[in-house]
Amino acid sequence: MSTEGIVVWADGRLRDPAEPLLSPLDHGLTVGDGVFETCGVVRGRPFALTRHLRRLRQSAVGIGLAPPDEDLIREGVEAVLAAGTNLGRLRITVTAGLGPLGSGRWASPQTVLVLAGPAQPADVVRVVRVPWVRNERSAVAGLKTTSYAENAVVLAHARSRGADEALLANTVGELCEGTATNVFVERDGELLTPGLHTGCLAGITRELVLEWSAEAGLPVREAAPGELAYAVLDEVLAGRAHLGLTGSVRTVAPVVELDGAPVAPGPLTQRVRELYAEREAADLDP
Ligand SMILES: Cc1ncc(COP(=O)(O)O)c(C=O)c1O
Repeated sequence: MSTEGIVVWADGRLRDPAEPLLSPLDHGLTVGDGVFETCGVVRGRPFALTRHLRRLRQSAVGIGLAPPDEDLIREGVEAVLAAGTNLGRLRITVTAGLGPLGSGRWASPQTVLVLAGPAQPADVVRVVRVPWVRNERSAVAGLKTTSYAENAVVLAHARSRGADEALLANTVGELCEGTATNVFVERDGELLTPGLHTGCLAGITRELVLEWSAEAGLPVREAAPGELAYAVLDEVLAGRAHLGLTGSVRTVAPVVELDGAPVAPGPLTQRVRELYAEREAADLDP
Protein backbone atom coordinates (compact mmCIF):
# COMPACT_ATOMS: atom_id res chain seq x y z
CA MET A 1 0.00 0.00 0.00
CA SER A 2 1.35 3.42 -0.90
CA THR A 3 -0.12 6.88 -1.20
CA GLU A 4 2.90 7.96 -3.24
CA GLY A 5 1.98 10.08 -6.24
CA ILE A 6 -1.66 10.50 -5.15
CA VAL A 7 -3.03 14.03 -5.01
CA VAL A 8 -6.19 14.85 -3.05
CA TRP A 9 -8.51 17.86 -3.25
CA ALA A 10 -11.52 18.43 -1.00
CA ASP A 11 -13.52 21.42 0.17
CA GLY A 12 -11.70 23.86 -2.06
CA ARG A 13 -8.11 22.90 -1.32
CA LEU A 14 -5.39 20.29 -1.70
CA ARG A 15 -4.96 17.86 1.17
CA ASP A 16 -2.40 15.41 2.43
CA PRO A 17 -3.55 11.97 1.22
CA ALA A 18 -3.10 10.62 4.76
CA GLU A 19 -5.21 13.41 6.32
CA PRO A 20 -8.62 12.27 7.72
CA LEU A 21 -11.30 14.19 5.80
CA LEU A 22 -14.72 12.60 6.05
CA SER A 23 -17.27 12.62 8.83
CA PRO A 24 -18.04 9.11 10.10
CA LEU A 25 -21.62 9.99 9.17
CA ASP A 26 -20.85 10.56 5.50
CA HIS A 27 -23.51 8.52 3.72
CA GLY A 28 -21.02 7.59 1.03
CA LEU A 29 -19.01 5.87 3.74
CA THR A 30 -21.83 4.32 5.80
CA VAL A 31 -23.98 2.95 2.95
CA GLY A 32 -22.16 3.67 -0.33
CA ASP A 33 -24.63 6.45 -1.15
CA GLY A 34 -22.66 8.31 -3.79
CA VAL A 35 -21.49 8.38 -7.38
CA PHE A 36 -18.11 8.60 -9.03
CA GLU A 37 -16.12 8.88 -12.22
CA THR A 38 -12.68 7.73 -13.29
CA CYS A 39 -11.08 9.52 -16.24
CA GLY A 40 -7.76 8.89 -17.88
CA VAL A 41 -5.11 11.62 -17.67
CA VAL A 42 -3.29 12.17 -20.96
CA ARG A 43 -0.30 14.52 -21.16
CA GLY A 44 -1.36 16.05 -17.83
CA ARG A 45 -4.93 16.76 -18.98
CA PRO A 46 -8.17 14.94 -18.17
CA PHE A 47 -9.47 12.84 -21.05
CA ALA A 48 -13.14 13.28 -22.07
CA LEU A 49 -13.93 15.25 -18.90
CA THR A 50 -17.11 16.74 -20.39
CA ARG A 51 -18.53 13.27 -21.08
CA HIS A 52 -17.51 12.06 -17.64
CA LEU A 53 -19.19 15.03 -15.95
CA ARG A 54 -22.34 14.36 -17.96
CA ARG A 55 -22.38 10.75 -16.76
CA LEU A 56 -21.64 11.83 -13.17
CA ARG A 57 -24.71 14.04 -13.32
CA GLN A 58 -26.82 11.19 -14.76
CA SER A 59 -25.64 8.83 -12.02
CA ALA A 60 -26.33 11.41 -9.28
CA VAL A 61 -29.81 12.21 -10.58
CA GLY A 62 -30.38 8.49 -11.16
CA ILE A 63 -29.90 7.73 -7.45
CA GLY A 64 -31.97 10.76 -6.42
CA LEU A 65 -29.21 13.24 -5.57
CA ALA A 66 -29.00 16.83 -6.83
CA PRO A 67 -26.82 17.41 -9.91
CA PRO A 68 -23.25 17.93 -8.62
CA ASP A 69 -21.60 21.37 -8.87
CA GLU A 70 -19.57 21.00 -12.09
CA ASP A 71 -17.70 24.29 -11.68
CA LEU A 72 -16.50 23.17 -8.27
CA ILE A 73 -15.43 19.78 -9.65
CA ARG A 74 -13.55 21.40 -12.55
CA GLU A 75 -11.76 23.61 -10.00
CA GLY A 76 -10.71 20.46 -8.11
CA VAL A 77 -9.58 18.79 -11.33
CA GLU A 78 -7.35 21.74 -12.24
CA ALA A 79 -5.90 21.81 -8.72
CA VAL A 80 -4.93 18.12 -8.64
CA LEU A 81 -3.54 18.14 -12.17
CA ALA A 82 -1.42 21.20 -11.41
CA ALA A 83 -0.09 19.60 -8.22
CA GLY A 84 0.70 16.10 -9.51
CA THR A 85 3.35 14.58 -11.74
CA ASN A 86 3.14 11.49 -13.97
CA LEU A 87 -0.60 11.27 -13.42
CA GLY A 88 -2.56 8.60 -15.26
CA ARG A 89 -5.96 8.64 -13.66
CA LEU A 90 -8.41 11.06 -12.10
CA ARG A 91 -11.13 10.08 -9.66
CA ILE A 92 -14.16 12.26 -8.88
CA THR A 93 -16.42 11.21 -6.02
CA VAL A 94 -19.66 12.88 -4.95
CA THR A 95 -21.62 11.52 -1.98
CA ALA A 96 -24.97 12.38 -0.40
CA GLY A 97 -23.03 14.07 2.44
CA LEU A 98 -23.99 13.49 6.09
CA GLY A 99 -26.71 10.91 6.62
CA PRO A 100 -28.31 8.73 9.27
CA LEU A 101 -26.93 5.35 10.27
CA GLY A 102 -29.43 3.55 8.05
CA SER A 103 -30.35 3.93 4.40
CA GLY A 104 -32.64 6.98 4.79
CA ARG A 105 -31.25 10.36 3.76
CA TRP A 106 -30.81 13.75 5.39
CA ALA A 107 -30.92 16.95 3.37
CA SER A 108 -27.22 17.67 3.51
CA PRO A 109 -24.56 19.34 1.34
CA GLN A 110 -22.81 16.82 -0.91
CA THR A 111 -19.26 15.70 -0.27
CA VAL A 112 -17.06 16.36 -3.31
CA LEU A 113 -13.61 14.79 -3.61
CA VAL A 114 -11.18 14.91 -6.54
CA LEU A 115 -8.14 12.61 -6.55
CA ALA A 116 -5.46 11.89 -9.09
CA GLY A 117 -2.76 9.28 -9.21
CA PRO A 118 -0.42 7.29 -11.41
CA ALA A 119 -1.56 4.47 -13.70
CA GLN A 120 0.36 1.86 -15.67
CA PRO A 121 -2.28 0.01 -17.63
CA ALA A 122 -1.13 -3.24 -19.24
CA ASP A 123 -1.52 -3.56 -23.02
CA VAL A 124 -3.32 -6.90 -22.79
CA VAL A 125 -5.72 -8.50 -20.31
CA ARG A 126 -6.32 -11.94 -18.79
CA VAL A 127 -9.92 -12.66 -17.86
CA VAL A 128 -11.93 -15.33 -16.06
CA ARG A 129 -15.57 -16.34 -15.97
CA VAL A 130 -17.25 -15.98 -12.58
CA PRO A 131 -20.31 -17.56 -10.97
CA TRP A 132 -21.97 -14.21 -10.11
CA VAL A 133 -24.22 -12.05 -12.29
CA ARG A 134 -25.04 -8.39 -12.89
CA ASN A 135 -28.64 -7.59 -12.11
CA GLU A 136 -29.94 -5.67 -15.09
CA ARG A 137 -33.14 -4.99 -13.07
CA SER A 138 -31.32 -3.48 -10.08
CA ALA A 139 -32.46 -0.03 -8.85
CA VAL A 140 -28.96 1.21 -9.69
CA ALA A 141 -28.34 -0.70 -12.94
CA GLY A 142 -26.20 1.33 -15.31
CA LEU A 143 -25.36 3.96 -12.65
CA LYS A 144 -21.81 4.49 -11.45
CA THR A 145 -22.42 4.44 -7.71
CA THR A 146 -19.82 4.11 -4.98
CA SER A 147 -21.50 0.86 -3.84
CA TYR A 148 -18.76 -1.20 -5.49
CA ALA A 149 -18.19 -3.96 -2.91
CA GLU A 150 -19.63 -6.45 -5.39
CA ASN A 151 -16.95 -5.48 -7.92
CA ALA A 152 -14.25 -5.68 -5.26
CA VAL A 153 -15.31 -9.26 -4.41
CA VAL A 154 -15.47 -10.32 -8.05
CA LEU A 155 -12.10 -8.74 -8.90
CA ALA A 156 -10.44 -10.37 -5.87
CA HIS A 157 -11.75 -13.71 -7.14
CA ALA A 158 -10.32 -13.02 -10.62
CA ARG A 159 -6.95 -12.00 -9.17
CA SER A 160 -6.82 -15.13 -7.00
CA ARG A 161 -7.04 -17.09 -10.27
CA GLY A 162 -4.20 -15.18 -11.91
CA ALA A 163 -6.43 -12.91 -14.02
CA ASP A 164 -6.73 -9.11 -14.27
CA GLU A 165 -10.47 -8.88 -14.82
CA ALA A 166 -13.65 -10.94 -14.57
CA LEU A 167 -16.46 -11.21 -17.10
CA LEU A 168 -20.01 -11.22 -15.80
CA ALA A 169 -23.25 -12.45 -17.32
CA ASN A 170 -26.56 -10.79 -16.42
CA THR A 171 -29.50 -12.60 -14.78
CA VAL A 172 -30.81 -13.92 -18.13
CA GLY A 173 -27.47 -15.33 -19.33
CA GLU A 174 -26.35 -12.55 -21.63
CA LEU A 175 -22.75 -11.39 -21.69
CA CYS A 176 -22.68 -8.11 -19.71
CA GLU A 177 -19.36 -6.50 -18.66
CA GLY A 178 -16.30 -6.71 -16.43
CA THR A 179 -15.91 -5.27 -12.93
CA ALA A 180 -14.53 -2.01 -14.39
CA THR A 181 -14.60 -2.59 -18.13
CA ASN A 182 -16.99 -3.06 -21.03
CA VAL A 183 -16.52 -6.07 -23.25
CA PHE A 184 -16.33 -6.42 -27.05
CA VAL A 185 -16.56 -9.72 -28.94
CA GLU A 186 -14.94 -10.05 -32.34
CA ARG A 187 -16.78 -12.65 -34.41
CA ASP A 188 -17.32 -13.17 -38.14
CA GLY A 189 -15.43 -9.96 -38.99
CA GLU A 190 -17.51 -7.76 -36.66
CA LEU A 191 -16.87 -6.31 -33.22
CA LEU A 192 -19.97 -6.46 -30.98
CA THR A 193 -20.57 -5.06 -27.50
CA PRO A 194 -23.49 -5.94 -25.22
CA GLY A 195 -26.37 -3.43 -25.35
CA LEU A 196 -27.19 -1.23 -22.37
CA HIS A 197 -30.30 -3.37 -21.73
CA THR A 198 -27.91 -6.01 -20.30
CA GLY A 199 -27.30 -3.76 -17.28
CA CYS A 200 -23.75 -2.83 -18.20
CA LEU A 201 -22.42 0.65 -17.56
CA ALA A 202 -22.60 3.03 -20.51
CA GLY A 203 -18.80 3.22 -20.62
CA ILE A 204 -17.30 6.38 -22.09
CA THR A 205 -14.58 4.33 -23.83
CA ARG A 206 -17.25 1.97 -25.23
CA GLU A 207 -19.23 4.98 -26.47
CA LEU A 208 -16.18 6.51 -28.17
CA VAL A 209 -15.21 3.16 -29.74
CA LEU A 210 -18.72 2.91 -31.23
CA GLU A 211 -18.70 6.51 -32.49
CA TRP A 212 -15.15 6.58 -33.86
CA SER A 213 -15.43 3.14 -35.47
CA ALA A 214 -18.64 4.20 -37.23
CA GLU A 215 -16.88 7.33 -38.52
CA ALA A 216 -13.96 5.20 -39.75
CA GLY A 217 -16.33 2.74 -41.47
CA LEU A 218 -15.33 -0.20 -39.22
CA PRO A 219 -17.88 -2.95 -38.49
CA VAL A 220 -18.36 -2.26 -34.77
CA ARG A 221 -21.82 -2.15 -33.19
CA GLU A 222 -24.05 -2.86 -30.19
CA ALA A 223 -25.41 -6.40 -30.15
CA ALA A 224 -29.17 -6.87 -30.37
CA PRO A 225 -30.94 -8.37 -27.32
CA GLY A 226 -30.13 -12.09 -27.16
CA GLU A 227 -27.33 -11.84 -29.75
CA LEU A 228 -24.42 -12.18 -27.29
CA ALA A 229 -25.00 -14.98 -24.78
CA TYR A 230 -22.43 -15.58 -22.02
CA ALA A 231 -21.82 -18.90 -23.81
CA VAL A 232 -20.06 -16.92 -26.56
CA LEU A 233 -17.04 -17.29 -24.27
CA ASP A 234 -16.93 -20.98 -25.27
CA GLU A 235 -16.46 -19.80 -28.87
CA VAL A 236 -13.57 -17.63 -27.72
CA LEU A 237 -11.92 -20.65 -26.08
CA ALA A 238 -12.47 -22.63 -29.28
CA GLY A 239 -10.69 -19.89 -31.28
CA ARG A 240 -13.81 -18.88 -33.26
CA ALA A 241 -14.17 -15.47 -31.55
CA HIS A 242 -11.91 -12.94 -29.81
CA LEU A 243 -12.34 -10.53 -26.89
CA GLY A 244 -11.37 -6.96 -26.12
CA LEU A 245 -12.07 -4.84 -23.04
CA THR A 246 -12.55 -1.09 -22.80
CA GLY A 247 -12.16 1.28 -19.87
CA SER A 248 -10.98 4.80 -19.22
CA VAL A 249 -7.56 3.85 -17.93
CA ARG A 250 -6.82 0.81 -20.13
CA THR A 251 -8.58 2.26 -23.22
CA VAL A 252 -8.92 -0.72 -25.63
CA ALA A 253 -7.12 -3.90 -24.54
CA PRO A 254 -7.16 -7.27 -26.30
CA VAL A 255 -7.78 -10.32 -24.12
CA VAL A 256 -4.96 -12.89 -24.30
CA GLU A 257 -6.11 -15.41 -21.70
CA LEU A 258 -9.52 -16.79 -20.70
CA ASP A 259 -9.90 -19.06 -17.65
CA GLY A 260 -6.15 -19.71 -17.71
CA ALA A 261 -6.03 -20.76 -21.39
CA PRO A 262 -4.31 -18.60 -24.02
CA VAL A 263 -6.68 -16.96 -26.53
CA ALA A 264 -5.66 -14.97 -29.60
CA PRO A 265 -6.45 -11.24 -29.90
CA GLY A 266 -8.54 -10.35 -32.95
CA PRO A 267 -7.27 -8.16 -35.83
CA LEU A 268 -10.27 -5.81 -35.69
CA THR A 269 -9.79 -5.29 -31.94
CA GLN A 270 -6.18 -4.34 -32.65
CA ARG A 271 -7.28 -1.93 -35.41
CA VAL A 272 -9.78 -0.30 -33.04
CA ARG A 273 -7.09 0.02 -30.36
CA GLU A 274 -4.91 1.94 -32.85
CA LEU A 275 -7.82 4.10 -33.99
CA TYR A 276 -8.58 4.93 -30.37
CA ALA A 277 -4.98 5.97 -29.70
CA GLU A 278 -4.99 8.23 -32.78
CA ARG A 279 -8.30 9.93 -31.92
CA GLU A 280 -7.37 10.29 -28.24
CA ALA A 281 -4.13 12.03 -29.16
CA ALA A 282 -5.97 14.40 -31.51
CA ASP A 283 -8.67 15.63 -29.10
CA LEU A 284 -8.58 15.35 -25.32
CA ASP A 285 -12.21 16.32 -24.78
CA PRO A 286 -14.14 14.67 -27.62
C1 LIG B 1 -18.80 -1.52 -14.10
C2 LIG B 1 -18.04 -0.77 -15.14
N1 LIG B 1 -18.24 -1.07 -16.43
C3 LIG B 1 -17.56 -0.43 -17.41
C4 LIG B 1 -16.61 0.54 -17.12
C5 LIG B 1 -15.86 1.23 -18.23
O1 LIG B 1 -16.35 2.55 -18.36
P1 LIG B 1 -15.43 3.75 -18.89
O2 LIG B 1 -15.06 3.42 -20.29
O3 LIG B 1 -16.33 4.94 -18.81
O4 LIG B 1 -14.26 3.84 -18.00
C6 LIG B 1 -16.39 0.89 -15.78
C7 LIG B 1 -15.41 1.91 -15.43
O5 LIG B 1 -14.91 1.94 -14.34
C8 LIG B 1 -17.13 0.22 -14.77
O6 LIG B 1 -16.94 0.52 -13.48
